[in-house]
Amino acid sequence: MKAHLITYGCQMNEYDTHLVQSQLVSFGAQIVDSVDEADFVLINTCAVRGKPVDKVRSVLGTLRKLKAERPLVIGMMGCLAQLEEGQQIARKFEVDVLLGPGSLLDIGKALESNERFWGLQFKDELHDHIPPPPQGKLQAHLTIMRGCDHHCTYCIVPTTRGPQVSRHPDQILRELEMQLAAGVQEVTLLGQNVNAYGVDGGAKLAGYPSFANLLRMVGQSGVRRIKFTTSHPMNFTEDVAAAMAETPAVCEFVHLPVQSGSNRVLRRMAREYTREEYLHHIANIRKHIPNAVLATDIIVGFPGETEADFEDTLSLYDEVGYDSAYMFAYSARPGTPSYKHFEDLPRELKVERLTRLIAKQKDWSARKNAAHVGSIQEVLLRGDAFSEGFLEGHTRGNHPTVVPKVLGITGAGVHRVRINQATPHMMYGNLIDANGENLPEVPRFAPEAAALVSPLQMA
Ligand code: 5AD
Ligand code: SF4
Repeated sequence: MKAHLITYGCQMNEYDTHLVQSQLVSFGAQIVDSVDEADFVLINTCAVRGKPVDKVRSVLGTLRKLKAERPLVIGMMGCLAQLEEGQQIARKFEVDVLLGPGSLLDIGKALESNERFWGLQFKDELHDHIPPPPQGKLQAHLTIMRGCDHHCTYCIVPTTRGPQVSRHPDQILRELEMQLAAGVQEVTLLGQNVNAYGVDGGAKLAGYPSFANLLRMVGQSGVRRIKFTTSHPMNFTEDVAAAMAETPAVCEFVHLPVQSGSNRVLRRMAREYTREEYLHHIANIRKHIPNAVLATDIIVGFPGETEADFEDTLSLYDEVGYDSAYMFAYSARPGTPSYKHFEDLPRELKVERLTRLIAKQKDWSARKNAAHVGSIQEVLLRGDAFSEGFLEGHTRGNHPTVVPKVLGITGAGVHRVRINQATPHMMYGNLIDANGENLPEVPRFAPEAAALVSPLQMA
């Protein structure tokens, strides 16, 4: 069998795609790079906003046409698959295999079955399954929990991924050990709300450490860099900030979604914290990690959001001074409380506010990134950048970074870089030696032509 997998959505989905893909390989499947070569196409879906759902519809439309012309098995997994909305789409587009986020290990059964196979149960066995580490990659994801116990009124995730289930620390450390043996240098601990790790359904689990202590444990594994995503402010304790500060491998990067700066909107979103409480967490983070790089998620145009509410979000952005942000216009999702109870604002209003927020974010990211010019950063290089003659990677603070190739360093690795230029979305620098001197660059064949495409010129 030749299988092709397509992934939408978050890092959790990337992890899940890797998990299912490695199952397929263990059944003898060959993974191919395009739909044209494949006899099984599996789409890992996201349901968090309308756009990723539309995207899935359009890909399925193309696949259904292909299926009319030649043998093709169509599969759909992930968050959308779990919803009635997704199942309707699956029926319409003749999907053969449907796997919700809790049923991924049914992939074997699904392929053995001669008829349509739909797996929609939540099975804890997922946590005991250790997928093989990614091959030839320095970065890996590591799931520490699944699902979410919060009930934010806009969010479909508690429905698609179910209540929170923490993974036993032994399984986490076993998977990490395999990743380290495979050469992984940066691990990102994943969960919908990693800070609540070890406390499922409000009950502390015996034998599970707190998230702060899990960070300390993972810090002792010898992994070079640790990141984690994502956190709910309500569960962000000062001990997490302290564990970050005292564990050298934990990167100075915190993604703490705020969603809105208005207490009225936060209440209607059922976020369970106030603007003031959120700012208190930020102050704690800065107290323990003065150079923390801060990122957030913001939804603009939540039902009932007034101009004054939105201005509260703008002022909170200034008060925190985020390094980066994921910003979204509210998308009414069937099955969520806000869809049921509140009226959606006009699209133009949401777009107008989103545009204003993006301008603010760009301004702050420019300022924050510019402040790093002249600094020395540890950059995990992944390989060739878009522009020929350059390598790309990211810092401990998650800044995408581009450097000219130097003699002797051609690919992946963790290296020291002096930053010499920055834009809102990118930093540029030079690889340096132990004395801080620039390493000799690889001569580029046509310097004038290279200069034309040099990212330094794109600033
Ligand atoms: N509309 C817009 N954005 C949403 N998010 C979650 N649900 C919605 C929605 N209905 C955003 C939140 C969350 C991120 C993953 O997606 O900001 O943190
Ligand atoms: Fe990830 Fe949420 Fe999208 Fe599911 S709905 S794929 S958890 S972002």
